[in-house]
Amino acid sequence: MSQIPDALEVIRERRSIRRFQDRPVPRELIEEILDLTVQAPSAKNSQPWRFVVLEGARCAELARRMQHRASALADQGEDSGSLAWSAQVVAQAPVTIMVFNAAAPPEIPVEFHNDYQFVMTQSTGGAIQTMLLAAQALGLGSLWICDVLYLVEEIGSWLGHPEDVLIAAVSLGYADETPRARPRRPWREVTEWEAAPAP
Ligand SMILES: Cc1cc2nc3c(=O)[nH]c(=O)nc-3n(C[C@H](O)[C@H](O)[C@H](O)COP(=O)(O)O)c2cc1C
Repeated sequence: MSQIPDALEVIRERRSIRRFQDRPVPRELIEEILDLTVQAPSAKNSQPWRFVVLEGARCAELARRMQHRASALADQGEDSGSLAWSAQVVAQAPVTIMVFNAAAPPEIPVEFHNDYQFVMTQSTGGAIQTMLLAAQALGLGSLWICDVLYLVEEIGSWLGHPEDVLIAAVSLGYADETPRARPRRPWREVTEWEAAPAP
């Protein structure tokens, strides 16, 4: 493989990829990405993330379920946002990794479940970003997909994780497009700087 780019270049060059080459991703590469992903920090090192790797027919099945949900929502006159569009990405990506958070452990009282999941979701968000950057560094394109949240219960039971919390999906593959960088607000616009008071 060609030389691995440095971390700053990886952060600058990553883009959401929505068109993938018809080329399989070696299993070792997926394993390496997962090994890098679990290096992410997490609240009290709880590592709440759980992953289900879909390939081949399982990706096609997810895409079919997403399309079906988009059509059903349209039939009911309800908005399905970019669900159908995301389904098309899943349909042609060679790999899609489903990301769950483990259900709250029994010692967490029910009234704290939302707070617990809020903290754990931050941890898993960091892991997903680590996954995207690892993929970029290893020459793969990626797409972070929350449109799967239109199918929370269906996906949970289909994949045998009914108690866990579906967070997102990440499609991976060799990029078949080179999108331009999407605009960002300059950091100065979104940052307040509290200077230390003069002595
Ligand atoms: C939490 C989250 C959810 C996202 N969900 C979707 C999605 O369901 N479908 C999709 O096409 N893109 C999705 N994206 C990708 C964003 O549209 C994309 O990151 C954003 O437009 C900036 O573009 P860039 O990633 O190329 O910099 C998601 C990104 C994040 C962080």
